Amino acid sequence: MIPITMTVPLILILLLHIASSVSSSDLRPGFYSETCPQAEVIVREVMKKALMREPRSVASVMRFQFHDCFVNGCDGSMLLDDTPTMLGEKLALSNINSLRSFEVVDEVKEALEKTCPGVVSCADIIIMASRDAVSLTGGPEWEVRLGRLDSLTANQEDSNSIMPSPRANASSLIDLFQKYNLTVKDLVALSGSHSIGQGRCFSIMFRLYNQSGTGKPDPAIDPTYREELNKLCPLDVDQNVTGNLDSTPVVFDNQYFKDLVAGRGFLNSDQTLFTFPQTRKFVRLFSRHQSEFFKAFVEGMLKMGDLQSGLPGEVRTNCRVVNARPSHLLLESPPHTMESNYKSI
Ligand code: HEM
Ligand SMILES: *[C@@H]1O[C@H](CO)[C@@H](O)[C@H](O)[C@H]1NC(C)=O
Ligand SMILES: *[C@@H]1O[C@H](CO)[C@@H](O)[C@H](O)[C@H]1NC(C)=O
Ligand SMILES: *[C@@H]1O[C@H](CO)[C@@H](O)[C@H](O)[C@H]1NC(C)=O
Ligand SMILES: *[C@@H]1O[C@H](CO)[C@@H](O)[C@H](O)[C@H]1NC(C)=O
Repeated sequence: MIPITMTVPLILILLLHIASSVSSSDLRPGFYSETCPQAEVIVREVMKKALMREPRSVASVMRFQFHDCFVNGCDGSMLLDDTPTMLGEKLALSNINSLRSFEVVDEVKEALEKTCPGVVSCADIIIMASRDAVSLTGGPEWEVRLGRLDSLTANQEDSNSIMPSPRANASSLIDLFQKYNLTVKDLVALSGSHSIGQGRCFSIMFRLYNQSGTGKPDPAIDPTYREELNKLCPLDVDQNVTGNLDSTPVVFDNQYFKDLVAGRGFLNSDQTLFTFPQTRKFVRLFSRHQSEFFKAFVEGMLKMGDLQSGLPGEVRTNCRVVNARPSHLLLESPPHTMESNYKSI
């Protein structure tokens, strides 16, 4: 038993420790240069291995940045497994049977824990790994701001209500991104992440056979491409079958935008960017000038990576579970240092 006189300062110290929260202004390049100088090299090496083992896995990891940062900030919340008392985000509508390659993040974390235990957050791993996924597949390279903390909880409902459907049209995507101060250009550039990776038939069945309840396919699909998609995803298909999001799915390039111009976008949320006038001009620009795409993409990733909840956090030792706490603290709800920025969504 801890003597009562010890308990109060101990709680205070522990609370101060877990209550540390960051605002985006605290994020900076080289955050680990003293505490874990090898951090970025270690992440890169594991991502290289993952790429060689299974090229798609780096795309799957890159997608984590979007699904993490849009739901209460970039805090590693979507990496948490469900517990008896917490429904995590892994089974949320946009994530279930879809997010994959969590084991790559585990591998990165394990390697980091060996070299500098308890120092590098899972939230920062996602940010570094996403950057590496892009540069290792031929995309731009950029410096990331680091210093995020991992959340103490996850929120399935928030993920369900925030993450966009593959059926979304450009105007609803513009509105969603606007809530995060991301511009129309950011939206189009960030959608260019679909230059790598795959999606399931499940995500496109409606546009092949019953777009907007019309009983007809999406008229924006190029007829030849539609034949290909119909072959990949016939009505009775196992809807977990996957197809490429663009015609060069292991190379990060502007082919995605060329495909959109040709009516060969995989998802409705992709093709809609060419259908709507507000987004079409950026699709055209990026389809013609890869350097414009790369520049805008980097800017978008940096802005998205700065989204923070303002809630307290910690550096998890295992990305799938929050750190163990002394039992007398388990009943305390985490102190809210400021209101979440995302309550309005
Ligand atoms: C603009 C709104 C977006 C929508 C509606 C959307 C939707 C989707 C959907 C439906 C899939 C396929 C999932 C499946 O069928 O299982 C997918 C895959 C993917 N998304 Fe997005 N996405 C969006 C934006 C983004 C952003 C901003 C990023 C990252 C910066 C991103 C990265 C990816 C990647 C890399 C994949 C392929 C993953 C893999 O191969 O495992 N997406 N997205
Ligand atoms: C776009 O989608 C939203 C949400 O589903 C819908 O309310 C809206 O009518 C659509 N806009 C257009 C122009 O199709
Ligand atoms: C967007 O910008 C406004 C004005 O600068 C700011 O008050 C708001 O908190 C920002 N929202 C997010 C989600 O960053
Ligand atoms: C197409 O969608 C509409 C509205 O969602 C639905 O009522 C109709 O039954 C669907 N048709 C087919 C063939 O699935
Ligand atoms: C995909 O596979 C999962 C796991 O095997 C299964 O539970 C799910 O029902 C399948 N989804 C579809 C759309 O067929």
